[in-house]
Amino acid sequence: MGVFASTDDPGSTGHEQVVFCQDKQSGLRAIIGIHSTALGPALGGTRFYPYPSEEAALADVLDLSRGMAYKNALAGLDHGGGKAVIWGDPEQLKSEALLRAYGRFVESLGGRYYTACDVGTYVADMDVVARETRYVTGRSVEHGGAGDSSVLTAWGVFQGMRAAAEHLWGSPTLRGRRVGVAGLGKVGKHLTGHLLDDGAQVVATDVSPRALEWTRTTYPQVELVADATALVSSDIDVYAPCALGGALDDDTVAALRARMVAGAANNQLAHPGIEKLLADRGVLYAPDYVVNAGGVIQVADEIEGFDFDRAKLRATRIFDTTREILRLADAEGVPPAVAADRLAERRMTDVGRLRSIHLR
Ligand SMILES: NC(=O)c1ccc[n+]([C@@H]2O[C@H](COP(=O)([O-])OP(=O)(O)OC[C@H]3O[C@@H](n4cnc5c(N)ncnc54)[C@H](O)[C@@H]3O)[C@@H](O)[C@H]2O)c1
Repeated sequence: MGVFASTDDPGSTGHEQVVFCQDKQSGLRAIIGIHSTALGPALGGTRFYPYPSEEAALADVLDLSRGMAYKNALAGLDHGGGKAVIWGDPEQLKSEALLRAYGRFVESLGGRYYTACDVGTYVADMDVVARETRYVTGRSVEHGGAGDSSVLTAWGVFQGMRAAAEHLWGSPTLRGRRVGVAGLGKVGKHLTGHLLDDGAQVVATDVSPRALEWTRTTYPQVELVADATALVSSDIDVYAPCALGGALDDDTVAALRARMVAGAANNQLAHPGIEKLLADRGVLYAPDYVVNAGGVIQVADEIEGFDFDRAKLRATRIFDTTREILRLADAEGVPPAVAADRLAERRMTDVGRLRSIHLR
């Protein structure tokens, strides 16, 4: 296990701690990244993915754990940012021994890092990890967990979208707007339901025939189009990327007819210059990590003993946070993601600083 520590300001890109974990027998190779514990124990999921190299795994965990620090800060949680990656193909490598070995490394951090699900890991895996560590959330309902986090993720995205609608059109509703949903998976289907309830028209697409069939049956009023390219160039007011990351690249932005982008997908901007391109085209971008925080709000609530109503109330506050970020962006003449980063850094500094008040 190798560890290095940084004394950087928590608001900078410097990580507090990065831990390399190996258990040869089970094949476990994991890296745990703790960006900041300024607001409390780091919280973020475990990604199990066949990275091409250790460098790629390290780059991803550094990036993801930093993103979690900002997401958790803006979600109003008493958690810092952390994330872990297990390097390898989950189909071939995942076993009880590997997950439990991983759990022991999480335990060895003494509560500086709480883990949960991410790409390649599921609630059932967290139940196995939990046999070796107390510092795990996102567990199955049978084990006191909250279950599927997509319910509150979709609710939070809807709240962020409502705030952006108010900013753009003066009223916090999507009534009468055409919303393009790319990805009718766990989050996209719940989001579609909220939008329809609110009186929006939904245009959608998915690559999965099963997802399309489910939508046709459940929401026959949804207009389905061939693919995301057709969706972005269609006559929509709002684009909601709810599939994979990198949904907004140069070509997509050039073709986009929507005035707003707000969706669940992580890391929507293919490169940092995209936000300026969106702004230049008069497109309002509600930062992904602000509006999709409902899932982490849910797993954080589970640490207290899950209460759905309390967690939903917290996810509803994504409306206020998004509104505040858009107001700040206008006031400071910066894109919303820059305003969001500033707000997150302010909370990490203002609240993190309180630990310097001596108690005993
Ligand atoms: N589930 C959560 O709580 C949560 C929380 C935060 C962020 N997110 C992010 O939101 C996104 C959606 O999450 P999910 O849980 O709904 O995942 P999911 O796997 O259930 O759904 C994704 C859907 O996108 C579809 N898809 C894949 N490629 C596509 C393409 N090129 N065009 C159109 N559709 C495509 C898939 O067929 C699938 O139906 C992901 O980026 C995820 O990281 C999810």
